[in-house]
Amino acid sequence: MKRRQFFWLGASTTGAIVLAPVLTGQARQLLTSRKSFPQVHASTDGLLAVDLEASNTQLNLGDKKAYLMSYNGQVPGPRLEAKPGDTVRINFTNNLPKPTNLHYHGLHIPPTGKADNVFLKIPRGESFTYEFAIPKNHPAGTFWYHPHVHGLVAEQVFGGLSGLFVVRGDLDEIPEIKAAKEEFLVLKDFDLDSNGRIKPPSQEIKMTTGRTGKSIAVNEGFNPTLSIPKGGLLRLRILNASASRTYRLAIEEHPFYIIATDGGSLSEPVEVKEIRLTPGERVEVLVRGNKEPDRYRLLNLPDERGEMDMMEHHKMTNRDMMHGGTKEKHPTTLATIAYSGSVSTLPLPKQLIPIETLPEPQRVRRFEFNHSMVKGLGMAFLINGKMFARDRIDTQVRLNTVEDWELVNNAHQDHPFHVHVNRFQVISRNGKQVPYLAWKDVVSVAPGETVRCRIRCDEYVGKTVYHCHVLDHEDLGMMGILDLIA
Ligand code: C2O
Ligand code: CU
Ligand code: CU
Repeated sequence: MKRRQFFWLGASTTGAIVLAPVLTGQARQLLTSRKSFPQVHASTDGLLAVDLEASNTQLNLGDKKAYLMSYNGQVPGPRLEAKPGDTVRINFTNNLPKPTNLHYHGLHIPPTGKADNVFLKIPRGESFTYEFAIPKNHPAGTFWYHPHVHGLVAEQVFGGLSGLFVVRGDLDEIPEIKAAKEEFLVLKDFDLDSNGRIKPPSQEIKMTTGRTGKSIAVNEGFNPTLSIPKGGLLRLRILNASASRTYRLAIEEHPFYIIATDGGSLSEPVEVKEIRLTPGERVEVLVRGNKEPDRYRLLNLPDERGEMDMMEHHKMTNRDMMHGGTKEKHPTTLATIAYSGSVSTLPLPKQLIPIETLPEPQRVRRFEFNHSMVKGLGMAFLINGKMFARDRIDTQVRLNTVEDWELVNNAHQDHPFHVHVNRFQVISRNGKQVPYLAWKDVVSVAPGETVRCRIRCDEYVGKTVYHCHVLDHEDLGMMGILDLIA
């Protein structure tokens, strides 16, 4: 597959004519036979200007017809790329039947005005122009955008609305990384009926696992083939864009070398055999083409963490688990890594971008996740005993103070905790120090677990949110308002 050519073509502002010579016959044929392909909009001369339209769309998911929600007719939406210092202007139109908006997950930009303002609601048929600057010192990394109107987030993200937002910078300039072949993998599960329509989730599903589907798409289709030259490096930039599903990733016979997490680069590559990726999380890895040239599968391994307890607790029925549950017993193939050609052996980078060790905290806070039955509402999802309320400030944080946030899960299933605007470092799990420093904006907290994170909010004042990134939990109340003050 000549995926590269598609990206180049999409990224170009000059259009297909100039780039036509790089297209092979096969790619040209695919271009004419497919309406949608991964589009890229990259900034030029310091400006990323894009028209983005959310709508209900009929498209092909793999070889099946699907009725999804899309940005510009594509699922996932176009990949946006900017550099530190750039201005971003997104002319957004909502052609969905319900209100929506855009959240820039992981970007360090203002939570107010025309930037990462999740309190905006853009009614059906209306447009809004988002405009903000990517700060000059913004880390390079894999970020993303998705809707964030409270109560509709799970439905709209599960329906297909999300896209990558890449900031290119110092990490991309490291020679070994620059020499690697880059691929983006947006992981997203679907639960469609035989007509290609999204099955409406039961109340039970919303209140337990959150909506999940059995077919797992990677980008715009299923099981793509990614090529790697013998001796070369493959850089996989992976986003979990699922509303509720956690992935456990492994490649047959190949370890991953993690080079970046949600908030950007690690200090040095970390070798692991598998990666657990909860909703909203991103990871960047290098894969070495140093095995017998062949085809190897990128697998999603079964992950039942926290589910048995939860099933008992909610007396979840088998039928419901079958309907949307994530209780798979066997690994599934997400993509295939195929050796093709060879290059002289590329080494792994030794150093990446140094990570600052944050000083000891000036203040410690505690966030407890739980749920309980609320009269007339059914199950409510709570942080510190409270459901989300638009007019209540839950947490007020002064800029430039180092704080430790203790995340305590007293519920019966995982709750991936996410904060907008500022990134944090995980310090410990159940008192045990984590093996390496990383910048995160989502961290999974298992039942009975206490995770300690260190955060220093800076630069931007205003109200924003933190919440569970199982989006049904968020919509059912597991979100709080964070007020950032100078
Ligand atoms: Cu990706 Cu508030 O979330
Ligand atoms: Cu976010
Ligand atoms: Cu949750």
